[in-house]
Amino acid sequence: MGETNLQIQVLISAEEIATRVGQLGKEISGDYAGDDLVVVGILRGAFVFVSELIRQITIPLEVDFMAVSSYGPSTKTSGVVRLLKDLDTAVEGRNLLIVEDIIDTGLTLSYLQQVLLSRNPASIKTAVLLDKVERRQIDFSPDYIGFTIPDRFVIGYGIDHNQRYRELPYVGVVPE
Ligand code: PRP
Repeated sequence: MGETNLQIQVLISAEEIATRVGQLGKEISGDYAGDDLVVVGILRGAFVFVSELIRQITIPLEVDFMAVSSYGPSTKTSGVVRLLKDLDTAVEGRNLLIVEDIIDTGLTLSYLQQVLLSRNPASIKTAVLLDKVERRQIDFSPDYIGFTIPDRFVIGYGIDHNQRYRELPYVGVVPE
């Protein structure tokens, strides 16, 4: 509201995303063939990626969501994440695939993995659309990665700037 529109350049087009998400869906379908699968989407950013990814997975699955938020600017370094919404699903003995729009420092995914591991699932893997690998503060490698990207401010395809731009069908960058 009242904010000037950003000048946006396309970093990854809608077509490129669709192709890559199709490949990931196929890979995930093969890896979990014959197994139980619970897709855990992390709100809010991941909702677009989750919705496209699950339509590219050809095996039965369940979807649930968690919402997390940082405790403030310092969290990006402390790794403390506040759980705003927990799963409704009991996950003991089940195969979990945590799905995120982006991994940056790695603190959020690392925290979520710890939280979910304490519930004794059969397995936990992680899928991210975007990996800003050079920003990592702890050693964390997602199992499925859509694109490795440079350390640029990205928006679109679920990712916001002040809660805007999530609806863009591509991943954009704001020129520096
Ligand atoms: C983004 C993203 C991850 C987190 C990754 O969420 O969806 O949850 O940051 O950063 P990290 O690897 O440094 O922990 P954001 O805080 O922007 O919230 P949102 O998904 O609700 O937009």
